[in-house]
Amino acid sequence: MTEGRRKRVCVLISGRGSNMEALIAAARRPECPYEIVGVISNRPDAGGLETAAREGIATTVIDHRKFDSREAFEEVLHETLLVFAADLVACAGFMRIMTAGFTSRWEGRMLNIHPSLLPLYRGLHTHQRALEDGVRIHGCTVHFVTADLDGGPIIIQAAVPVLPDDTPDTLATRVLRQEHRIFPRALELVASGRIRLENGRTVGTWTADPEIAVVSPSLD
Ligand code: GRF
Repeated sequence: MTEGRRKRVCVLISGRGSNMEALIAAARRPECPYEIVGVISNRPDAGGLETAAREGIATTVIDHRKFDSREAFEEVLHETLLVFAADLVACAGFMRIMTAGFTSRWEGRMLNIHPSLLPLYRGLHTHQRALEDGVRIHGCTVHFVTADLDGGPIIIQAAVPVLPDDTPDTLATRVLRQEHRIFPRALELVASGRIRLENGRTVGTWTADPEIAVVSPSLD
């Protein structure tokens, strides 16, 4: 657990916001080392905005189309994060590429969820690409955000089997269930100080059951 106060987290979204919801749900537990203080969307029509408002969380829209440059958009985003007094930033389906200038300002304090086992399948259409490649195991990753798109140091991953009848949608659904489990956990690990970014690497202490493996096809 954290010493002292809970860390203030702003969530960045562009759409539905199911990962955001998972972060909000986890933060309801009194022992959670973070609280969600604001949700920022670059899209006025993001479904997650309504959900956040229903949860009583402050929401802000910063429409990227209203800015002449990426930098101008990011300047307002940065200022807004400061107004929220954010300690940490959680990108939960936030579909904007960020400049090195912006990511360096939040280095070690900004996390992203990505629907693949990085470093495989950076970028878009990860489930489709996994199916095309015929991999038997797929998954999701939470990592620190750096200027290297989907390439920042990994914090936590979850693996799922790929099944013969899978479509990108069925696979996405299976992966998303795990996203909702690992994103809150990653945020807890960082908010509590158990995991941090140091010299470009994720360091700290964590546990994992060394006997557990996802085997696909299964052995029985
Ligand atoms: C998730 O699959 C996330 O990994 C990806 O975009 C999707 C967002 O879904 N970056 P949601 O908005 O959290 O429901």
